Amino acid sequence: MGRTDDCGDEEYNRVLSEDRLLPDEDCYDDKQPIRPHEGRSTRKFRPIYFHVVLILVYSAIYVGLLLRTFSTRPPDANPSVPQPRPPHRLPAREGLIWEERKFPTEITNNAFAGDPRPELDEAWHHLLHNDNILVPKEYLDERNLTSIYTKDGTHGVASLSTYHALHCLKKVKRMLFKTYYHDGKSEEAMAREIKHVDHCVEYIREALMCQPDLSLVTFRWINDTAQHEDKSAFYPTNFDVSLHTCAKWEPLDQWAGARRFDLFDVDLLQRPVASVGPA
Ligand SMILES: *[C@@H]1O[C@H](CO)[C@@H](O)[C@H](O)[C@H]1NC(C)=O
Ligand SMILES: *[C@@H]1O[C@H](CO)[C@@H](O)[C@H](O)[C@H]1NC(C)=O
Repeated sequence: MGRTDDCGDEEYNRVLSEDRLLPDEDCYDDKQPIRPHEGRSTRKFRPIYFHVVLILVYSAIYVGLLLRTFSTRPPDANPSVPQPRPPHRLPAREGLIWEERKFPTEITNNAFAGDPRPELDEAWHHLLHNDNILVPKEYLDERNLTSIYTKDGTHGVASLSTYHALHCLKKVKRMLFKTYYHDGKSEEAMAREIKHVDHCVEYIREALMCQPDLSLVTFRWINDTAQHEDKSAFYPTNFDVSLHTCAKWEPLDQWAGARRFDLFDVDLLQRPVASVGPA
């Protein structure tokens, strides 16, 4: 199956191999703050999904015809199994594209913030779209890692840690609105959820401490604060106005997007056969 956009894979590999080389304008806009949920990328991706669906439908028809014509084809030649991509590098920190940016930390007019609503769910969903990826088995072997593998054994499923931390943050956000997201869950299911979120807080703590951001968060004297009863008194309040040295998200997300694997496609993996039926 052909590539569905022309600026993810090769482009980012070029970025990876040529340190800090800026990508084509068409691929990501340097002037815009990186907010994956906002207009540009959303507008950009919709037609792509449409074409992906079209390509999938045509491929399925084509494959169906091929299989009928050449019924002796070995089963592993089924093109619906993700085809091993040409060798590519794993994301190396040298391959990231860095920029200085502020943290706007908007809690209004921000799809990620605020009360549960379709726009919020869509923003978080889109952020985590490329959570799971396929990487060549050799990369895992080199790092003494094992995972679960595609049927042909060439690729393993993995997530970049940054996505795992974001997934965890989403779990925390959902726990903040548990009456909305976990309505009707049994006590037992809720206990499992709390355990999961506790794991997640721990993971986020570890992730933040692993890559410490040393930008300085400074203070101002603020009266009339929401937190204090005495509205006339001034209290030290911190405001992050620093510039942070940040990796651009969109190129990284495109790198992951070019390798995305949907875990719902579990049948494309070497799945152990259950010895007993489901409980
Ligand atoms: C993987 O394990 C081998 C053998 O135990 C060791 O020599 C090698 O350094 C390990 N590699 C990594 C990346 O940990
Ligand atoms: C807060 O301080 C400003 C002066 O900096 C003053 O004009 C204002 O009335 C104060 N607000 C309250 C609620 O005390």
